[in-house]
Amino acid sequence: METGNNRKKEVTMASQELLDLMNKGVAREIQVSIQYMWQHVQCSGIKGFAVKDELESIAIAEMKHAEAIAERLVYLGGKPTTKPEPIFVGETLKEMLQTDKQDEEGAIELYRETIALAEKEGDTTTARLFKGILADEEDHHDTFSGLLEDL
Ligand SMILES: [Fe+2]
Ligand SMILES: [Fe+2]
Repeated sequence: METGNNRKKEVTMASQELLDLMNKGVAREIQVSIQYMWQHVQCSGIKGFAVKDELESIAIAEMKHAEAIAERLVYLGGKPTTKPEPIFVGETLKEMLQTDKQDEEGAIELYRETIALAEKEGDTTTARLFKGILADEEDHHDTFSGLLEDL
C-alpha cells in the first residue's frame, strides 16, 4: 500500500498557514465565478455585447479553479470553505471591468504568496497547481485591461 503511505506523508506536510491561504483562494474563486457570471447575465448594450461571452468563459474558468484548489485542499487534510469573498456585480460595464481587473490583481498577489509558501514547505505539487492558475489569472487581467481600454 505504497500509495496510502505516500498520501499519509503528504497529508501531514502542509502547514495550517498554507491550508488557510488555499482556502482564501477558494473563497475568491467562488466569488469571482458568481460575480463574472452575473455580470455576463446583466451587462447590456452594444459594448456589453462584446464582453458578454468573455465574462461567461472566465466565470467558468474560475469555477474550475475553485474545484482544483478545493480538491488539493481536501487531499492535504483541509476543508474547503463554501463562503465566497464579497461579490460585487456593478451597474455599468466600466464599473464591472474595473472591479474585475482589481480582483484579478488580488488573485495574482495571493497566488504568488501561496506558491512561495508551498515551495518553502517542499510541496511542489501545490506550487505547480498554483503556477498554472496564476498564469490563467494573468490572462484574465490582460483581458479585462484590454476590454477597459476599448470602452
Ligand atoms: Fe481563478
Ligand atoms: Fe481570474
